[in-house]
Amino acid sequence: MTDLSRIVATIAADMARAEDRGRVADYIPGLARVDPNQFGIAIVTADGETHCAGDADTLFSIQSISKVFALTIALGKVGDGLWRRVGREPSGTAFNSIVQLEHESGVPRNPFVNAGAIVVADVNLAGHQPRETIGELLQFLRHLAEDDSVVIDDKVAQSERATGFRNAALANYMKSFGNLEHAVELALGVYFHQCAIAMNCRQLAKAGRFLMLDGVHPGSGRHVVSAARARRINALMLTCGHYDASGDFAYRVGFPGKSGVGGGIMAIVPGRASIAVWSPGLNTRGNSQLGTIALARLADATGWSIFRPAADRSPDAP
Ligand code: DON
Repeated sequence: MTDLSRIVATIAADMARAEDRGRVADYIPGLARVDPNQFGIAIVTADGETHCAGDADTLFSIQSISKVFALTIALGKVGDGLWRRVGREPSGTAFNSIVQLEHESGVPRNPFVNAGAIVVADVNLAGHQPRETIGELLQFLRHLAEDDSVVIDDKVAQSERATGFRNAALANYMKSFGNLEHAVELALGVYFHQCAIAMNCRQLAKAGRFLMLDGVHPGSGRHVVSAARARRINALMLTCGHYDASGDFAYRVGFPGKSGVGGGIMAIVPGRASIAVWSPGLNTRGNSQLGTIALARLADATGWSIFRPAADRSPDAP
């Protein structure tokens, strides 16, 4: 067993025993039924090794983690023009907050709060039917994960639509400021379906590899995005990926991560590892309780941090 396999196995065993597992998101009925006694972790390293433990092959709803991939597609379509419609500052507010939108004229703080992701969905709709926009995202994820089995959980998508009153409020509000080009229902339809994509830790860690490798997809050896863009997406994940807990995540973990209310977190150690953890119980900020603890443990055990001096990198263990 390598050091990293041992670390991953120890973390999974400790998380299986944890008593305080947080609370499963219950504002989306499709998520409320998930058993909180689950924990999975998958790590793909830069040299292509995979280390998994716990429930790494169990599918879960990726929810807001989809926002990273939708943003990647939107930047490919409109480039820096995106930043006229969405900011790139941490919000300091909850993921579904509406308060800043009035002060800031319907321009969401960043692409990872719900309002920002709805604008990104609107950008990705240009010239497409909603079905095609969702299809493009699914194809992108299947390509990145090298796995054609990635699909949408329709029950979750329907339950989001049936209960997504806050998202409808955000979208209507932005529409009133002229920051949505398409009908509110179309942008919301894309957003709800992208959140309802189901993946497991193994697939998600593979999908994140281009962000660890300066934009290169190791399966094809080709750039998915430029190195500069990959670094910038990582910067947004670090500063905004955990909403009003982004500072705490950067402090405790020390590398970029994006959470979802399904309990998943995708995290990237540039040049070293693409990681997915999942445990459905959430902390008070709506991020996976055990997922965050597991990543902090992993950072401690490996020394992985984007703040580590470069000169110190070569003997980095493991
Ligand atoms: O729109 C929502 O509220 C959910 N579909 C996604 C929110 C989410 O994942 C926040 N992340 N922790």
